[in-house]
Parts: sequence; structure tokens; C-alpha cells
Amino acid sequence: MSKSPLRLGIAGLGHVGSEVARIIETQGAHLSRRGGRDIVVTAVSARDKNKQRSCKLAGVAWVNNPVELAAHKDVDVVVELIGGSEGVARDLATAALKASKPFITANKALLAHHGVELASLSEKHNVALYCEAAVAGGIPVIKTLRESLAGNAVKEIYGILNGTCNYILTTMRETGRAFADVLADAQRLGYAEADPTFDIDGMDAAHKLAILSSLAFSSPVDLSALAVSGIRNISLADIHFAEELGFRIKLLGVSRQTEKGLMQRVSPYMVPLTEQLAHVEGALNAVFIEGSAVGPLTLIGRGAGAAATASSVLGDIIDAANGGAPPAFGVSVANMKAIKSLPDSDSIGAFYVRLMVADEPGVLADMAAILRDARISIQSLLQKGRNEAGPVAVVFITHDSNEKAMADALAKLGKMPSVLEAPCVIRIL
Ligand code: HSE
Repeated sequence: MSKSPLRLGIAGLGHVGSEVARIIETQGAHLSRRGGRDIVVTAVSARDKNKQRSCKLAGVAWVNNPVELAAHKDVDVVVELIGGSEGVARDLATAALKASKPFITANKALLAHHGVELASLSEKHNVALYCEAAVAGGIPVIKTLRESLAGNAVKEIYGILNGTCNYILTTMRETGRAFADVLADAQRLGYAEADPTFDIDGMDAAHKLAILSSLAFSSPVDLSALAVSGIRNISLADIHFAEELGFRIKLLGVSRQTEKGLMQRVSPYMVPLTEQLAHVEGALNAVFIEGSAVGPLTLIGRGAGAAATASSVLGDIIDAANGGAPPAFGVSVANMKAIKSLPDSDSIGAFYVRLMVADEPGVLADMAAILRDARISIQSLLQKGRNEAGPVAVVFITHDSNEKAMADALAKLGKMPSVLEAPCVIRIL
């Protein structure tokens, strides 16, 4: 190779960082052919120097403070695999870009909170910011939106963006085991975030959706514009009712352009069994994109795990070796245009509602009256068995209804004396 080697500084040697280093150590010939130059790790930083790892790191400098990698004389490109939106990760990103060193990150929280600020810095210092691994692990959705689909106007993008939630929902359905039990498995298998509340309460998927929305709609990354709810309240009963009604429950991130604004939401959805996404199971992720020219497009693959995430990081490393990069979010910051959010009063969709009610005369009539007054029309209704000793489940599916009217009706339904638990509502895709 005539070009000098590309020298990497890696911050964070957890599952992903160690796997990236291991692949560079063991598949150097392949990587250098793709990058047009040798690719070497020259410096690393991690919390525990003595931990057993899959990579050897022979002759690699150890730096105690990761931020020092930005100024390290033997580092050309900084790879950040620490995580977290603030602190060391943010300081390192800022320092690397200011030092005009390409910055590669898998950190969705960092980009969801500070994407515009970091993209501005990368433009100001004329240096690349790469983030393929930040969304959907091994699925190459960032480059797909930023480069391959650049000629399309995106109408809608939605997907299964959190492997932990998908694993939990799939395993609950297949085994009948309870939520907490299955979450412990996901943590053991290494899918879950350090703080699993980010997974199960929808924030991890929200970070990813905020990044995808920016790429899809050329708008500034704006996490605050998303409505976010997670899967904590999904019960085995809902999972079984879904199946009976022809749906499967998935935590989706949905971003849709409408005439009245952009709808961005992370929430559990009932996905019809006729949809491909209903059958994306376990820790897999999937992203559906509707483009003006390409039409419908679905990407499915491993959304978490060391090797799949390392695959995306390595793709970015090879891009850095080859040089040149489009703006991080597809358009320059100056060309990003904020899009008005769709208010709930203009948002329309169908709903699944489960109420746990006392099994006594008049309950259905009272419920129907509340829905009639809210102008919500029922498409189908299900009540199982008779249980004089306790509550019975009443489940209904609505026709397309107004989001705000539904919220108001639910508040009233929840206050009925015969409704014994908080109503469970799930949007229908
Ligand atoms: N905790 C994430 C998930 C992994 O479960 O999908 C990578 O973002």
C-alpha cells in the first residue's frame, strides 16, 4: 500500500469495541484492500485495563482519559464506543472534530441530543462525522437514507428499533413467561442497554427515530418532538388478544409526513399479521421506508450485539480510510429545515383498547355511550368468559379515530366505577 496506514484511537472496549479491535487484528488484509490502506489500532481507552478481552491490543498505547485520544499524535481517526449523551463521549466528540479528526460513533443518545451541534462542528472543521452503528446495529440504514435514497422524498419511515423490546415481546408470546423474567434474559444475552429502562420505556428507540427522521426529512435532529411510550404495560393478555385479532404487538418508531405536520412517535403498535414487520422476531430490527421513487423498502437484520454493531463501525472506518464523506445527516446544517409537528387534534388512527371491568349489567352500554359522545366508532368487540369473582377483559378495536378524542374518552373510561384497572390502549399500524 502506498498510502500511510489509517491509525485509529478507540474509546470504549466493551463488547462492540473489543470486537472492532479483534476484527482489525484478524482481518487486516481484507480491510486494507477495502480501505486502500492499512488500518491499525494505535491507541485505546477503557475503564479496566486488565479485563480479559477477545482482542490482543499488542503494542497499542493505553490512554487513561479517552478525551486525550483526540489530541494523540498517533491517532488519525477517533472511534467512540462509550455511550451516553453527555460527559466523556460528548467531550471526546467535540475535541476530535475541533482537532479535524474524523469521528466515528455508535452513540445514538449523543446524536439524538447533540446531533446538530456536532454536525455543525464537523462542517466548520471540514471533517467527517460517521454514525452507521448508532441506529439498528448492523442494518445499514444511515447510509441507505443519506446516500442511496438521496434522490427520494421520504413519505414515511417506521421500524422495530429496539432489539431488547422485540426479544421480550417475542419471548413472552412464545413461552407465556412474564415480562420481568424475560427482561433478565435480554440483559444476560447482552441486548439491553446498561440502563434497561432506556430500552423498555422507549427512549433507546426514540434516540434512533430522532436520527432517522432527520435523515429522512432533512430536518434538524429533535428528540423533543417525539411522543414516547414503552412496553412496560403490555401484558400477556394483550399479546394473546392481539394474536386472536390478527395482530402482533411490536414497539415501533414511526415518523410520517402528513399535510398538517410530521407525526413522530415511539409506542407499542398492533401490527397486522399480513405485514412483514409482524414476523420480525427476537432481537432482530427492521426499518420500513416509503420513498417517492423507490416505493416501499424494508431492511431487516441484527439490531444489537457485538458483531453486528462492529460491522457498521467497520464500514465507517473503511469510509474514513477512503476519505471524503457526505454531511452527517444528509444535508448541511444550513439546509436542514424544521418541520411542524402534527398536533394530536389532527392525528388519526385506529386503536386497540383493553378494559378490565366488573362483570355486571350496563357496563358495555356505559362504555359505548362514552365512545359515542367522543365520536369514536367500534369496529369489533370481544369479551371473554364470565368471572363473578373478579374483573373480566373487554377488548375493542376502533375505526380510525382522532388521537385527542381517544385520549379524552380513555380518561373517562378509566374513571367508570366498573372499570377496575387503568385501560390499556395500543395503536394499530
Ligand atoms: N439496547 C439496544 C437494543 C441495542 O436493544 O436494540 C443497541 O442499540
